Amino acid sequence: MKLIIGISGASGVGLGEKFIKKLPSKIEKYIIYSQNAKTVLKKEENRFFLDNSDISAPTASGSFKCDSMIIIPCSMNSLAKISCGIGDNLITRSAAVMLKEQKKLILAPREMPFSTIALENMLKLSKLGVIIAPPVLGYYAKSETLEDMEDFLIGKWFDLLKIEHNLYERWRG
Ligand SMILES: Cc1cc2nc3c(=O)[nH]c(=O)nc-3n(C[C@H](O)[C@H](O)[C@H](O)COP(=O)(O)O)c2cc1C
Repeated sequence: MKLIIGISGASGVGLGEKFIKKLPSKIEKYIIYSQNAKTVLKKEENRFFLDNSDISAPTASGSFKCDSMIIIPCSMNSLAKISCGIGDNLITRSAAVMLKEQKKLILAPREMPFSTIALENMLKLSKLGVIIAPPVLGYYAKSETLEDMEDFLIGKWFDLLKIEHNLYERWRG
């Protein structure tokens, strides 16, 4: 599986990084940080760090054939650009490619509260098949620490990507 991970400049850049660390090593990871996402992970096997200003990178083309893309966290700025078809950096261009190729695109918008504009952008993208999966906790998971809470969120994103995991206890009724 080839997976693009975009990290934009919303609060929660650390959560995006933790998501990457928990991904199985067999997944090919193409990681793009926006200029506003300051923290950078060290290069490891099966990870390719792409420059957000390099719109000639492989993920900028549909011919690269990526399976899925997830943006954690997704700023309202990146959300707005994606919903309007603006591809002025590698994250937004790669998302535009996923849309045109009808591939799986997951956004984790981080803002509180959401403006009407942001909600309209999410609705528009949802109608196009984009999965809107913000970092919202489920209290049934009985999380006790911040790490448990983050594992719950990462587990929910893994579920959407069909990645096996044991990161949170499932509701059994
Ligand atoms: C400390 C800090 C926290 C921020 N948190 C958020 C946030 O949670 N959500 C958001 O949409 N923007 C947030 N912003 C604003 C974005 O960084 C800003 O809109 C930026 O233009 C996003 O660019 P990008 O989408 O290319 O990463 C934050 C900015 C700072 C400095």
